[in-house]
Amino acid sequence: MKTYRIAVLRGDGIGPEIVNEAVKVLEKTAAVCGFEVTLTPALLGGAAIDETGVPLPEETIAVCKASDAVLLGAVGGPQWDSQPGSNRPEKGLLGIRKALGLYANLRPAVIFGPLRAASPLKSEIIGGDLDLLVVRELTGGIYFGERSTGTENGERFAWDTERYAEHEIRRIVQTAFEMAEKRRGRLTSVDKANVLDTSRLWRSIVDEMAKDHPTVMVNHMYVDNCAMQLVRNPGQFDVIVTSNLFGDILSDEASMISGSIGMLASASLGDSGFGLYEPIHGSAPDIAGQNKANPLATILSVAMLLRYSLNEAAAADRIEQAVAKALAQARTADIYTEGCGAKLVTCTEMGDIVTALIE
Ligand SMILES: NC(=O)c1ccc[n+]([C@@H]2O[C@H](COP(=O)([O-])OP(=O)(O)OC[C@H]3O[C@@H](n4cnc5c(N)ncnc54)[C@H](O)[C@@H]3O)[C@@H](O)[C@H]2O)c1
Repeated sequence: MKTYRIAVLRGDGIGPEIVNEAVKVLEKTAAVCGFEVTLTPALLGGAAIDETGVPLPEETIAVCKASDAVLLGAVGGPQWDSQPGSNRPEKGLLGIRKALGLYANLRPAVIFGPLRAASPLKSEIIGGDLDLLVVRELTGGIYFGERSTGTENGERFAWDTERYAEHEIRRIVQTAFEMAEKRRGRLTSVDKANVLDTSRLWRSIVDEMAKDHPTVMVNHMYVDNCAMQLVRNPGQFDVIVTSNLFGDILSDEASMISGSIGMLASASLGDSGFGLYEPIHGSAPDIAGQNKANPLATILSVAMLLRYSLNEAAAADRIEQAVAKALAQARTADIYTEGCGAKLVTCTEMGDIVTALIE
């Protein structure tokens, strides 16, 4: 029987609660689909500071590197606010992404049927089922370019630069093509090629690579148009690939279409399919320890882990289908409304319901 090694970083706040539910779902899915998982816990964030004095212990990096994939809850909380900037929980998160060479950030925006009313978009704009994926370059571009501030002729100035090397563009575009091949075969590359040299290089590399991916239909779109199209006709998109800066903005816009922060999964991928999977929300200290958190974003992160790092697409489908069915009968407080036809449940109950629906 195939065995996969998963590093499990529960983190802080609601992190342990939501990861525990996701692990339940993962173990049941493994049993149903005929593979095994070995789970190795490791410390990250505030929990790591409390135990070891630093947010990212070497031991955690070693555990992650020895695994096939990493599942993370969330880090941070007010009890660590007095830590110096270099030793805050969030530093652990940036550090682990860097240490593992995770250059591709994947954020799906999916609307589950029962939650259509939670979307800020009108139902007729959403159209049929909405399921798009933003692939954002994560370790290059303007966030990592040269920058400076100073004073000249009596006034202050500042500048930032965007630089992309060909290999940085090729590897993220390759990831996006592979995602499109596993999905509906459509790729939109987003840039500002009418103004920026980096965008013109990006566009020409996408066109060159398209020849090696004949089953994927490619189109280019300027970032300003894409921002508009996402709220005008989001159903036109399958996979969107873009630079660090544009991806930062567009992935937030796209994720809000689906309405609730407790539902949104993400992946950060490196080479050979290795990846770290986490909900996009934080550690929610305001509800930590109360069994109120919505575990579905973390459960859906497990589905991404199975699909993208372990190539267990059928297992991923089972989880996504179980989540859709669970929503028809139960909601945690963040997605519950009077008269929605589903009962209000705790974090643990939601985990149990999804687990029972994996078949
Ligand atoms: N990737 C991460 O680990 C990550 C991301 C963002 C913020 N943070 C950290 O998390 C801490 C809290 O940050 P914040 O309050 O700005 O953002 P947050 O995402 O933790 O919470 C924002 C709001 O959403 C709610 N919420 C979040 N996740 C939920 C869930 N699964 N179910 C139900 N409700 C949920 C919270 O209760 C809160 O009201 C900070 O220390 C911040 O630095 C960590």
